[in-house]
Amino acid sequence: MVEIVIEKPEFDQNPSPLVVMGIFESKEYDKYLKYLSSKAKNALKELVSENGFTGKLGTSVMLPILGNTEIERILLMGLGKKEKFTRDTARRMAGKSALKAREIHQSNFSIFPFVESEEDDVEAIAEGIFLSLYNFDKYKTKDSEIENNKIQRVKLLVHNTNVEKLQAMIGKAKAITDAVNFARDLGNLPPNDCSPTQLISYGLTMADNFGLSATILERYQMESIGLNGIVSVGKGSDNPPKMLILEHNGTSADATPYLLVGKTVTFDTGGISLKPSEKMDEMKFDKCGGCTVLGLMRAVSELKLPIRVIGIMPCVENMPSSSSYRPGDIIRMFNGKTVEVLNTDAEGRIILADAIAYGVKTFRPRLIIDLATLTGASIIALGANVAAMIGTAVDLKTRLKKLSKDTGEKMWELPLWEEFHDQIKSHVADIKNIGGRPAGAITAAAFLSNFTDGIPWVHLDIAGTAWTQDGTSKKSYNPKGATGFGLRTIVKFFMEESLKGSET
Ligand code: BES
Ligand code: MN
Ligand code: ZN
Repeated sequence: MVEIVIEKPEFDQNPSPLVVMGIFESKEYDKYLKYLSSKAKNALKELVSENGFTGKLGTSVMLPILGNTEIERILLMGLGKKEKFTRDTARRMAGKSALKAREIHQSNFSIFPFVESEEDDVEAIAEGIFLSLYNFDKYKTKDSEIENNKIQRVKLLVHNTNVEKLQAMIGKAKAITDAVNFARDLGNLPPNDCSPTQLISYGLTMADNFGLSATILERYQMESIGLNGIVSVGKGSDNPPKMLILEHNGTSADATPYLLVGKTVTFDTGGISLKPSEKMDEMKFDKCGGCTVLGLMRAVSELKLPIRVIGIMPCVENMPSSSSYRPGDIIRMFNGKTVEVLNTDAEGRIILADAIAYGVKTFRPRLIIDLATLTGASIIALGANVAAMIGTAVDLKTRLKKLSKDTGEKMWELPLWEEFHDQIKSHVADIKNIGGRPAGAITAAAFLSNFTDGIPWVHLDIAGTAWTQDGTSKKSYNPKGATGFGLRTIVKFFMEESLKGSET
């Protein structure tokens, strides 16, 4: 496991095998010169001023300094235009540096913050390093190349004297990225090792380790209280559905909570409305919303946020069989509304709707955030790098959008106007579970809005962003597979909310 420590850039006392230096297109490298021996200084000067290292974003050069004991190599990272530099650029460049260091089998390296105001960068750099070194190798029987080349220690080179504050920032980044990597680990599990029972038991173990209270609803319990949406979708599989409810009580147990709900379909074949076989394997990632909720609960607990948060994971496997629910079925949902099933592949909205209604009735939350790999239509609308955001919580939407600029988890709002509700009216029931091809991501959200009982709510459709897929742009800190998308932004929202609470 990699550790990041703060150290002063005094290389005569602390020699380094590899030092990462960021260079903007403006090529201001003077700030590094004072720390370097004359040999290193000359090598750097020559490369930047004479040999045309441009500092363009995405470019990098590994510069060996022969016969220099203080610094054996400099890794120059192009940072692009200074005006365009964001925290997400810092995160990506730090991640890329870590991957380059791993590539050349370094077990440790040093890195300067990219911007003058060092504190602004520390968190993003730490996140970039922790996230990029994530690697899912549970199923490799031989040690992989990566397994043999683990980076153990990164020194963050600052002359800032407030070391404690910086260490605390790194500690927070570690707690958050550990939670992201935990969500990734579960998201990446193959469906044969991740039935609802297995996934929920991973969640329960986490809850025990992190001091969260947990309740599990078994199928018979869901039947008896009328969670018929979840029970119906789960009927076709021999692996019974389950629901996990986690609770973080950072204040009093009767404080008005925040409610998180995550779509947790361990595998989505489409059911009787069977999906085509092409890329069906990717439907193991249909549990990612729920995995992110698990990660979020872990993070709020580890960060000891003084707020109350409830996380609900309705967990099913969507399979075709003689016991499956069918097109034409009408389901009486937990909140009493009736749903005509016209496509068993639109299963996510059905299980989410029940879980949301259950959360609303049981906890009367102040707001609801749901995360779901809900529609292919959201990918058609926004591509594989942006989540669709739809909902009624005006302030929350603004806050998430703003935070997502820093986190790099792009979210874009789609409207939820009356016309869209018309598309899901049913002739025989209150609503139907599909609204036709047009505006498919929105009609899915319109469906969910029937179950929020007027509580401010935001839905994030993470179908395009929950894992790396066709059309995903490369980011060093998102290795192949589940990404944990949404966790960092939402945890930031909770951190802001926690500060508010302590002021009043
Ligand atoms: N899990 C899928 C959505 C999905 C598809 C996510 C592809 C990521 C990539 C969801 O359950 C689903 O099948 N949705 C259908 C809804 C349709 C039947 C109205 C879809 O998007 O095709
Ligand atoms: Mn489906
Ligand atoms: Zn699905």
